[in-house]
Amino acid sequence: MPLVCVCSPKGGVGKTTLAANLAYTLARSGSKVLAIDFDVQNALRLHFGVPLSDGRGFVAKSAESPDWSQSILTTGGNIFVMPYGEVTEEQRVVFEDNLTKDPNFLARGLHTVLNYPGLVIVADFPPGPGPALKAMRDLADLHLVVMLADTASLSLLPQIENDRLIGGALNQRTGHYFVINQSDSRRHISRDVTAFMEQRLGDKLLGVINRDESVAEANASQQAIYDFSPVSAAAFDIELVSKRVAALLDIKVGGGEMHAPIRSR
Ligand SMILES: Nc1ncnc2c1ncn2[C@@H]1O[C@H](COP(=O)(O)OP(=O)(O)O)[C@@H](O)[C@H]1O
Ligand SMILES: [Mg+2]
Repeated sequence: MPLVCVCSPKGGVGKTTLAANLAYTLARSGSKVLAIDFDVQNALRLHFGVPLSDGRGFVAKSAESPDWSQSILTTGGNIFVMPYGEVTEEQRVVFEDNLTKDPNFLARGLHTVLNYPGLVIVADFPPGPGPALKAMRDLADLHLVVMLADTASLSLLPQIENDRLIGGALNQRTGHYFVINQSDSRRHISRDVTAFMEQRLGDKLLGVINRDESVAEANASQQAIYDFSPVSAAAFDIELVSKRVAALLDIKVGGGEMHAPIRSR
């Protein structure tokens, strides 16, 4: 039951895009994958063909139902989605209160899926700390921290490096790794920041994803970037990040174990 969290101190950096495409890649490699949305924006589902008008989700139900697996939607194939759902402000506050005050709330809600043999879980988070990210600390296997190749992201690096985002390590297992998204080699500042981060983060940097217009187009057509434009730079970059995630978590892909060369970027 490997559980991967995609998070960032920043918004609009590509967390949801990466979470969705990581789910697609792992599913294409043969894993059964569940994508869970912890962001009230409720946008993750849109990557999997769930209609805008479908407001179903686990958050509204979590107040009464201890097992959230009833809120899983099937998308065809071996990807499953558990949307945040459309909620009232009151429902959001109750959910966050439960996450903060009841230390077993999250583990109970996810009990069924956490015990489903071989299921890979990819969880998408809102920017910044927040109760869900904090509650996830004891359940998560790996965190991917998405950053942009800009100075604002640079200034936020120490927050993560010094475990200050949630006031402690993000998880107790494989730790956290960084992904730089929307790197643009045509722009000086982007090149410089990417090079600086590569040097500073070393092996903690799992990959650099190029800025690529086909990402927005793939998102708009609710497709995986790999399916929409398999030869695009971003599809290649995201595949590589996904393979490194699989290697870190010992997820079997394509019938064999994946040994991505994490050190030889
Ligand atoms: N590598 C990329 N190249 C170009 N656009 C991207 C890339 N990654 C994400 N985007 C775009 O950036 C915007 C924010 O992405 P999103 O995944 O919603 O970020 P977040 O979840 O961090 O708020 C979206 O419009 C998305 O299409
Ligand atoms: Mg998002």
